Amino acid sequence: MKILAFESSCDETSVAIVEDGRRVFANVVRSQAENHRQYGGVVPEVASRQHLILANEALQAAIDESQLDLQDIDVFAATLGPGLVGSLLVGAQAAKTLAFITGKPFRGVNHLHGHIASNYLESTLEPPFLCLLVSGGHCQLMDVQAYDTMPLLGQTLDDAVGETYDKVARVLGLGYPGGPVLDQLAQTGDATRYALPVGKTQGRFDFSFSGLKTATARLAQNELKADDQTALADLAASFQHAAVQALVQRTQAAQQALGYTTVAVAGGVAANSALRQQLADWCTEQGLQLHLPHMAFCTDNAAMIASAAFFSPLTEAMADEVFSRQKTVPCR
Ligand code: KG4
Ligand code: ZN
Repeated sequence: MKILAFESSCDETSVAIVEDGRRVFANVVRSQAENHRQYGGVVPEVASRQHLILANEALQAAIDESQLDLQDIDVFAATLGPGLVGSLLVGAQAAKTLAFITGKPFRGVNHLHGHIASNYLESTLEPPFLCLLVSGGHCQLMDVQAYDTMPLLGQTLDDAVGETYDKVARVLGLGYPGGPVLDQLAQTGDATRYALPVGKTQGRFDFSFSGLKTATARLAQNELKADDQTALADLAASFQHAAVQALVQRTQAAQQALGYTTVAVAGGVAANSALRQQLADWCTEQGLQLHLPHMAFCTDNAAMIASAAFFSPLTEAMADEVFSRQKTVPCR
């Protein structure tokens, strides 16, 4: 089954064609980062307008790349949420229109199921496994029992980890989107120089990043001199150390409680170098299987949505429910 999917929940306009949830024929991603950089974050109104401008070009590029044509597509799909309502509408309406004119079915997808499904792309991974989902809008541990059964084990009580990276990067003057730049800078610094808090929570598998964000911002304001590049790198490294420690500790606790031998990671922060390294070291030491999506499938992309449309599509009732809960405020 070949599925053509749109992803437009935030600031990436993406169209992909995937066969049977795993084989990627095309995955075109048009980033809007340039349009949002001057505002230091995603502006919902700008995002929805950009999706409208970029959608048809991304669709044509995906069709060209796949060397298929519309008649070869069996199902059209789109992200219905969570995300920015005006942005979601563009991708959803484009996919529904294609379904209508070709007489093929439409499937709605939960964006978070998409991130989990990024692990199935170009891979043979199958449930059950433990999944750490870390993105700009979410930070969760999921018990992936089956393709369509993934109860939530715990989540952040305040900021998502990607959002924390972006906000700290802004305070440090590193620009937007901050995660990748902060990660790179952290690799050059001394993580032991500043002691920063690893968020404590009541729930064993929950996270909290607002204390870390505030403590890092306060240190930046009080301690950093304008031209001290060494201190800047050390602060970035100390922040990354605390953030990654929180993620790894909770993942270890959940793995020990549930006994899974496979651990997967999903979402934009799955691209983080320290997180990848520390999880890899722990899994090797414990004889666990670690599954990391290809870098191209970590941040938002439509290939993961096409995969989720194959393995875990929303029912119509679920789709209405997911869509009716959408935000109109920025996602990060
Ligand atoms: O999954 P994603 O593309 O969008 C959401 O669904 O939110 O994740 C984007 C987030 C951003 O917050 C970005 O700063 C973060 O992922 N990110 C990273 C890295 N690469 C992307 N955070 C830390 N280290 C990275 N290397
Ligand atoms: Zn995402």
